Amino acid sequence: DPADIYAPDRKASQGWDLNNHKVVEALDLAREHFATHQWQVEPLLACAVDSKQGREIVNPANPKDVVGYAIEANISDCQRAIAAAKDWNDAGAQQRAFSLRLAADLFETNTGELMALLAREAGKCAADAVAEIREAVDFLRYYANRGEDLAHGEARGIVTCISPWNFPLAIFTGQIAAALVAGNGVLAKSAETTPLIAAAAVKLLHAAGVPREVLQFLPGEGVTVGQALTASPAVAGVCFTGSTATAQAINRSMATHMSPAAPIIAETGGINAGVVDSTALPEQAIRDALASAFQSAGQRCSALRILYVQDDIADILLEMLHGAMDELDLGDPWSLATDIGPVINSNAQESIQSYVQQAKQEGRLLKQLDAPQGGYFVGPAVIEVTGIADIAREIFGPVLHIARFKAEDFDSVINDINASGYGLTFGLHTRIDDRVKNVSSAVHAGNIYVNRNQIGAVVESQPFGGQGLSGTGPKAGGPRYVQRFQRPAESSQTD
Ligand code: NAD
Ligand code: ALA
Repeated sequence: DPADIYAPDRKASQGWDLNNHKVVEALDLAREHFATHQWQVEPLLACAVDSKQGREIVNPANPKDVVGYAIEANISDCQRAIAAAKDWNDAGAQQRAFSLRLAADLFETNTGELMALLAREAGKCAADAVAEIREAVDFLRYYANRGEDLAHGEARGIVTCISPWNFPLAIFTGQIAAALVAGNGVLAKSAETTPLIAAAAVKLLHAAGVPREVLQFLPGEGVTVGQALTASPAVAGVCFTGSTATAQAINRSMATHMSPAAPIIAETGGINAGVVDSTALPEQAIRDALASAFQSAGQRCSALRILYVQDDIADILLEMLHGAMDELDLGDPWSLATDIGPVINSNAQESIQSYVQQAKQEGRLLKQLDAPQGGYFVGPAVIEVTGIADIAREIFGPVLHIARFKAEDFDSVINDINASGYGLTFGLHTRIDDRVKNVSSAVHAGNIYVNRNQIGAVVESQPFGGQGLSGTGPKAGGPRYVQRFQRPAESSQTD
């Protein structure tokens, strides 16, 4: 009985409490039930599916475990889906909000299957999977409320939503929910590696009353399906989350194919920094650095990539960091004992490991944990650098860079961080109140966290999004997000 294992809260979803023995029993049941299940999915269109080609999806923790098969859309499917797409303006704001709230309830009652998909398709540990389902539910409920507030706005038309694999449920659902509640029709493309959980989400949205011609699902490759769904003049806007390079490619393609008025919301990557000064509480700084850098195997856009530590406490902090890392358990994401699961695929594993190897050859690798064999695991690593300028690109895995700084160089550290051009998350550990105030206004970052970890923004209370190379805004889960999916008032008068 779901009532036994939830404490439903209409403001923010509480999700499954992994300390509750009934939840652990429910999780065990889900594990048993879905342990060998193979999901078969195909594009969910308002017209017949033409494509017969697809890809096998394997478990990143154990690539011999086949999780399912996804037929991917082809160009003909994209063109016919665009022609068949309809907006959802006529339904009215209340009906749209009702469907989103119902979908939120369905996500909660299907938590067992969603947990299984997050573990086996995306390699998510139980705590991360619970948080991700909670975030998806929060997006649905929060945007339903915002959609009602904006009931008189006019939809843009047909919007393409393109999402990454690292939040294959929450970001996928959040984009779609915002576009739908504003009255748009949606063409949704999941990432290549995570179509199964995306299909499950779309099916639950359809079951909640979202019409098939209003929400179509087109799994497939970025360069084919993604390109076709962003470059069509029939598409009135694009909502994209992924790497900065892909956002730039989409922007270029839209500029050549579409009306310049069609907006793109792009939430992209970062080289996120944290700073620990000598007044900070060392245990807290280490606990937060560990979570920010290594949780989700470092595969969060928000993850801490470089920690600046004041030189007078650097040695003791590093000793504590290394000790704390030794307590981390890597392995099967299904096991509640596991802290860190695999990275998403063999390409990611090879690319991150070769980066670490290079640092080792250069004598800059301070520590790396051993990784389990058999899956796409990378041992969390710590690499010494002189500053953020030494990091050429976002390393999307469990790699933490450490830079030492002298007390008198504090301001230039902040300037260097700003000079990177990225601006997603920033963390500060200090007990100097004035410093908190000054740094919060000086640093260019969308989300600034003080004396805590720098991951896991909560919908509505912590709107999430970056500046500069990290994103266009408006922030996801914030008050201005849904509005961007409607025509500005002046343009609806002149259209
Ligand atoms: P990616 O840019 O490779 O892919 C993202 C999506 O874009 C995928 O669905 C992909 O198929 C599609 N795509 C690729 N090329 C395309 C093209 N030419 N046209 C249209 N679509 C195309 O990113 P990824 O590897 O899936 O995800 C990791 C990246 O996402 C990291 O950089 C991370 O920082 C970023 N990210 C940002 C946020 C945020 O909120 N700012 C959240 C999660 C992830
Ligand atoms: N919103 C996610 C986080 O804050 C990416 O970690």
